[in-house]
Amino acid sequence: MSTPQMKATGKFSYEPGKYCVKDINLADEGKLLMDWAESRMPVMMKLRAEYEKTKPFKGYKIAGCLHVTKETGILIRTLQAAGAEVYWSGCNPLSTNDAVAAALASEGIGMYAWYGNHEDFYWCIDRTIDPKPHLTLDDGCDLINTVHEKYKEYAQNEVIGGTEETTTGVHRLRSRQAAGELYYPVFAVNDAETKWDFDNVYGTGQSTLDGIIRATSVLLAGKNFVVAGHGHCGSGVALRAKGMGSNIIVTEVKATAAIKAVLNGHEVMTMDEAAKVGDIFCTATGVKDIIRKNHFASMKDGAIVCNTGHYDAEINIPELEEVSTSKRTIRPNCEEYTLKSGNRVYLLAQGRLINLAAAEGHPSEVMDMSFANQFLAHLALVTKHKSGEKFGNVVIDIPLDQDEFVAKTKLETMNMTLDQLSEEQERYMNSYNEGT
Ligand SMILES: NC(=O)c1ccc[n+]([C@@H]2O[C@H](COP(=O)([O-])OP(=O)(O)OC[C@H]3O[C@@H](n4cnc5c(N)ncnc54)[C@H](O)[C@@H]3O)[C@@H](O)[C@H]2O)c1
Repeated sequence: MSTPQMKATGKFSYEPGKYCVKDINLADEGKLLMDWAESRMPVMMKLRAEYEKTKPFKGYKIAGCLHVTKETGILIRTLQAAGAEVYWSGCNPLSTNDAVAAALASEGIGMYAWYGNHEDFYWCIDRTIDPKPHLTLDDGCDLINTVHEKYKEYAQNEVIGGTEETTTGVHRLRSRQAAGELYYPVFAVNDAETKWDFDNVYGTGQSTLDGIIRATSVLLAGKNFVVAGHGHCGSGVALRAKGMGSNIIVTEVKATAAIKAVLNGHEVMTMDEAAKVGDIFCTATGVKDIIRKNHFASMKDGAIVCNTGHYDAEINIPELEEVSTSKRTIRPNCEEYTLKSGNRVYLLAQGRLINLAAAEGHPSEVMDMSFANQFLAHLALVTKHKSGEKFGNVVIDIPLDQDEFVAKTKLETMNMTLDQLSEEQERYMNSYNEGT
């Protein structure tokens, strides 16, 4: 009775070969959410207007494994409008918006995703591979890993290429390439300047606080807010929490990132020290076991702990269970653990991405640039394929001219104009003997 298919048919809107979502009747609600996102994603709408005429993806199937949010819906709609046949699963058990999933399923997308999908996570990915897609679009490498491990021959011979959305996924891809185990070219969308420096910083910064507030409704002002990792995401979270009046404490392993934190006005210390004084903890490292049992044991009564890194491995939850005597759900996405000392620790969103599990993920405005990069990277893969040339089985950086194009288009849609270098200024900039 517990095969994924049977559970799906029993509890969900399941049309074998077409979609499996929580409730297809939520479609109208999802369409409204996407209409709202479209009004805030002008770069994507420009790309759609241009490529729905020429349909460069006609004849190509794309499988995606990325958070099913209203913004992702705009990427999917745009790929579909440009001629692609699209299949999709969520890339995290707690990040799917069920209304958006239903809306996309009703618009002909092969959607296999629902909020709370822990057990059938890989079953959903498998369903998106069934139609033998030509391209993969990942956020965290779960689809790429599945294609490489379970469908090796197909990965080696039939997939044209892919893209990866997040830092953790790009790390995994680079180690796959180093091991000689990458079977097709993959664009590192995360590493584009118009993605990493905006989505991770400002998107994660705002939406992480949004998630913490929705899950707890706590006052941030005056709290000691501990951010583990002062990279792109962590620096954004720290910046926004500081703006809300928190005292920021950063833990780091990289000296330059720690210095940046100090010069941004934050305190830097080890997690052993921070655990004793923090009121709110947020991990943003992409590394496992950042908060462990000795840290929980030294936390103040009432400490709040959450994660905004890609996987739920940053907070060691089995160790939290080990040092606790009881656990109860206080409110959605907020579980109270009572420790042997009697102190209580509140874990948010089961240690999963707080901004997607408890809020709506990044604002549309910032995803506009990230997803423009996704769209254009897939266009580059298809264009290369049509030309008969090959990229090679490597991780590919987003070209600078694509980054520049996305940034310029975004600025234009914001009605902002750039100054232009004069010929004289260009000459000055590129010469070695002028002005010395
Ligand atoms: N929540 C979201 O929506 C969202 C969005 C983008 C990226 N991410 C994820 O967030 C994570 C971080 O991404 P990023 O772009 O900020 O990466 P990054 O490389 O820019 O920053 C990570 C930082 O963590 C630090 N770090 C590593 N190990 C540490 C440790 N043990 N203690 C303290 N600091 C440590 C690194 O030195 C680095 O400065 C990744 O898992 C990424 O996939 C999440």
